[in-house]
Amino acid sequence: MPNPASPAPHSSLARVISWLDENEPQSLSRLVDWLKIPSISTDPQYRVDVKRAAQWAADQLAAAGLPAQVLPTGAEGKPGHPVVLAHSPGAPDYQGPHVLFYGHYDVQPVDPVELWDSPPFEPVVREGEPGGPGRRIVARGAVDDKGQVMMFLEALRAFKAVTGQPAGGVKFTVLLEGEEESGSANLEPFVKQHEAALRRCDFCLISDTGMLGRGKPAITYGVRGLAYTEVTLIGPDQDLHSGLWGGRVLNPNAALCQVLSQLWDKDGKVTIPGFYDAVRPISPREREAWAKLPWSAEEALRSIGLPKEADWGEKGFSPTERAWARPTAEINGMYGGYTGPGAKTVIPSRASAKVSFRLVADQDPAKIPGLFFEWCKARTPAGFRWEFVDHHGGHGVTVPIESPYLAAASRAVQAACGVEPALIKSGGSIPVAGMLKAILGIDTVFMGFGLDDDRVHSPNEKFEIECFRQGARSHAALIAELGAVKK
Ligand code: BES
Ligand code: MN
Ligand code: MN
Repeated sequence: MPNPASPAPHSSLARVISWLDENEPQSLSRLVDWLKIPSISTDPQYRVDVKRAAQWAADQLAAAGLPAQVLPTGAEGKPGHPVVLAHSPGAPDYQGPHVLFYGHYDVQPVDPVELWDSPPFEPVVREGEPGGPGRRIVARGAVDDKGQVMMFLEALRAFKAVTGQPAGGVKFTVLLEGEEESGSANLEPFVKQHEAALRRCDFCLISDTGMLGRGKPAITYGVRGLAYTEVTLIGPDQDLHSGLWGGRVLNPNAALCQVLSQLWDKDGKVTIPGFYDAVRPISPREREAWAKLPWSAEEALRSIGLPKEADWGEKGFSPTERAWARPTAEINGMYGGYTGPGAKTVIPSRASAKVSFRLVADQDPAKIPGLFFEWCKARTPAGFRWEFVDHHGGHGVTVPIESPYLAAASRAVQAACGVEPALIKSGGSIPVAGMLKAILGIDTVFMGFGLDDDRVHSPNEKFEIECFRQGARSHAALIAELGAVKK
C-alpha cells in the first residue's frame, strides 16, 4: 500500500474532488430521485418499487461505466428481492486489491407515518440550524443506506468523468442487496451461488455505519451480531370476560410480563444460562482506547431526551463497552389482548413478544434462540404452553485493526476530511459481514458517515449534506489510493 494520498493540485484525485464539489447539486438530486422510490423490503405491497429501486441503481452503475445486472433471488413460489451486481475489471496494470463494495437499497417501513414532518418518500432538503443538525436531506433511506451508497456511486461517476476509466482503474465487484432490512433470507444462497466470482475479492467495503460525531469521521472495525425471536404464551383456548374469569385463571399478558421481567438480573446481566459462555472479554487495550475517544455518554443521552441518571446497562462496563462488546436482550414489541381505542374487558387467550439479542464475538446466533426458548419453558405457568419462532440473525464481526485495507481506508478518510478517523465499533448489526467471513474468508471495512441523531429506522430519518460530502470524498480518496498500486 502506498502512503497517504495527499492530492497534488492537478492529480486525478484533486480533479475528482473538484468534480464532486461542482456537481454536488446534481448528485443530491440523483439521490432524491432514488429516495422517492419506496423500496420497503419487508412489505409485499412494495415488491415492484423494490425492483424499481434496484434497476435505478443498476442504471447509475452503468452510467459510471460499470455494467450492472439486476439478478433475481429466492426460489420458485418464494421470490426474493433482486441483487444488483456490477463489475469493473480494473486497469490492465492494476495491482491493488479486488474490492467488494456492499450496500443495500431497501429501506425500513415508515410507521408511525403521522410522526413525519414531511412524507417519507418525498425527500426535502432542510437548512441547518445553529446548535442543531446541519443542512440535510430528510427521507426514509436517506442515511440507511441509499444516501451512503450514493456517496460511492457519485465517486465512481466522478472518476469516470475525470479519468474516463471506470472506478479509476480499481477492480471492483459491487453488490447491492434488497433485503437487508428484512433479514437477508436470500443473500446466503446468492453468495454461495456466485461464490466462484466473489472469491476473487480481497475485502469487503461497506458504508452503512456512523461517525463518532459531527466532524469526527470514523472507521468501524466491528459490529454486533443478532438473534431475533418471537414467543407466544398460550393459556385458555379462548379469550375470556375478565369479570367472569378474572381471579380464577392467570392472564397470559401478565404471565408473559412476569416471565420476561426475569431476563435481566439486578446488575443488568442477561439471566439465560450459557448466554455469556462464548463472549470474548474486552482487551485492556480496547478499554483504554475507547475511554479516550472524544465522545460523551451524557451528551448522547441528552440527544434522546434523557438525563445522565438514565444511564442503564450491565454493571461494570462503560456505555461504549456495553454497546460495542457486550451482548444484550431487548423486547422489541409486545402484543396480546385488546390494544384498540377505548376499553374492552378481556383476558386474552395468548400474549406475544418479539425478543431479540445483540451478540458479540464468539456467540453463535444459531444457538442463542434455543437457549432462550429453554429458559422460557422452564418458566411455563401451570397448564400453559409456548409457541416459538426463530426469525433471523447474523454473526457479529471484528476486523483486525492491523488490516492493510482498514489502514488504506483510514488514510483515505484522513486525506478527504483532513482529520484522522477514530477507530470505533458499533452496536448495530450488518449480517453480510459475518456471512462473507464465513463463506469467502474475507474481512470487511466499515467506512460510514451517519450521525447518532440521524433517526435511523425512525420518522424524519435524515442524512446531513456535510456527511455526504465527506463520504463521497473519502470514497474518491480510497479509489485513488488503491488505484495507485501498480505493477
Ligand atoms: N445500517 C444498519 C446497521 C447500523 C446502523 C450499523 C448504524 C451501525 C450503525 C442496518 O441497516 C440495520 O438496520 N441492521 C439491522 C439488522 C438487520 C438484520 C435488520 C439492525 O442492526 O437492527
Ligand atoms: Mn443499513
Ligand atoms: Mn437499517
